[in-house]
Amino acid sequence: MNISVIGTGYVGLTLSALLAKVGHKVHCIDVIEDKIKTIKEGKSYFYELGLDNLVKYGIDSRNLTPTLNYEEGVKDADIIFLSVGTPSGADGGWDLTYIYDAVENAAKFMKDGVIFVQRSTVPVGTGKRAIEIIKKTNPKANFTYLSSPEFLREGSAVLDSIIQDRIVMGGDNEEKKKILFKIFEEIEKMAPQITEETPEIHEYASTYISNGGSKEGAFKDKCISTCLESAELIKVCSNTFLATKITFANNIARVCDRVGANINEVMDGVGMDRRIGRSFLYAGLGFGGGCFPKDVKGLIKSTEDLGVDAQLFKRVYELNESQVDYVVDCIKQMGVLGGSQVGVLGLSFKPGTSDVRVSPAGRLCKALSHEGFAVLATDPRAIEESKKDFPEDKNLKYVDTVEDVFKNSEIVVLATEWPEYKELDYERLSKLMKSKNFYDARNFLEKEKMNKIFKFDNLGA
Ligand code: UGA
Repeated sequence: MNISVIGTGYVGLTLSALLAKVGHKVHCIDVIEDKIKTIKEGKSYFYELGLDNLVKYGIDSRNLTPTLNYEEGVKDADIIFLSVGTPSGADGGWDLTYIYDAVENAAKFMKDGVIFVQRSTVPVGTGKRAIEIIKKTNPKANFTYLSSPEFLREGSAVLDSIIQDRIVMGGDNEEKKKILFKIFEEIEKMAPQITEETPEIHEYASTYISNGGSKEGAFKDKCISTCLESAELIKVCSNTFLATKITFANNIARVCDRVGANINEVMDGVGMDRRIGRSFLYAGLGFGGGCFPKDVKGLIKSTEDLGVDAQLFKRVYELNESQVDYVVDCIKQMGVLGGSQVGVLGLSFKPGTSDVRVSPAGRLCKALSHEGFAVLATDPRAIEESKKDFPEDKNLKYVDTVEDVFKNSEIVVLATEWPEYKELDYERLSKLMKSKNFYDARNFLEKEKMNKIFKFDNLGA
């Protein structure tokens, strides 16, 4: 089929590359020249496990055509996927400018019978408004509009997009929905081949499913057909519910700190209840990234606009905002005085990505710097990005090696749980420090082992 994907972020580029891999003729459209230029060179402009290989295949096979031009990208498309960003607006709600601009631009050139599929996270009611825009822009248009939200996570975007937990299809045309389900099923069927061909994915795939990755199972059991509004709400609710689980664990971690309980033990026990589940109950620096903070805020705004009580979501947001300050207090309680040098391991908002949007680790660096500590921070992938989002200042400097983080530091803090930080030779690194203090803000390292080397503390234990 001829398929157009508007927006080349984590959702759009991953989907484009997979559709091309399955054999569709795909145009991916973006308005940013540098992004399109990089994709044309056969690579992704952001780091995502296994994506470069797929993009390269798409370009080499000529199944994937990146373009800045809407007319070229849309005119032959049987299906148009919309996957542009929906950042936070000034009022806390989602800014839908990119969505409505993309819908209007696509509507000008779309062919008869096209299916529009919304993949971005949008507030309920966006679909209705988009349909009005298409009708106004192209009054004779014959089209179907479906909402099929994407649930991929950064760091495992490719695997999440190949084997999805569920495929939600909102709208009122059951025949067209079947076409879409079939397309996603084709992608899932390619799973063994894609993982086999991409060594880094193959390596990760074996541990992935047991780590809360998407379930395998009968494809039809994962397909859900709903009305437009329900589909829109399912995505926003999923993100807010997961954010609530994290905040719950972070709050209980504070209780554990007071009473000497251990947050991991508590959540292991709580999570064994199958009705609750263990995932997203890992206490840490709070949730960050381009999705949860924005989506919780968005749900607060749209709930309040409807005249419905949004206190629950508000409290989740506020408590999350306070988590970095709580960790700064824990660090101070270890006896580290203002003005001391603090080393920070990790800057991305979670491991496996170079994304630092609303990164709790970046916020921690800034908070420590603000408190007068001299901060030296590093990350395996996200230093350049951090320099933009969390600029260096008189107290905050980024360094390339973990040795530089430890050298002469009074304390080192683990802020992002990159797997490689589990393998470090802490015995050797500790000898570079001024004082051997270590705070694990992600409860990631083996306490017993670390206790032998450092004056060690971690969150909620
Ligand atoms: C999230 C959702 O998990 C995806 O399903 C969704 O598609 C995506 O948002 C989106 O809306 O596009 P993502 O932002 O990539 O995915 O990251 P997550 O893995 O969900 O982590 C979000 C934040 O929560 C990170 O800062 C992470 O460190 C934190 N987290 C996660 C915890 O602090 N504890 C946990 O137990 C889990």
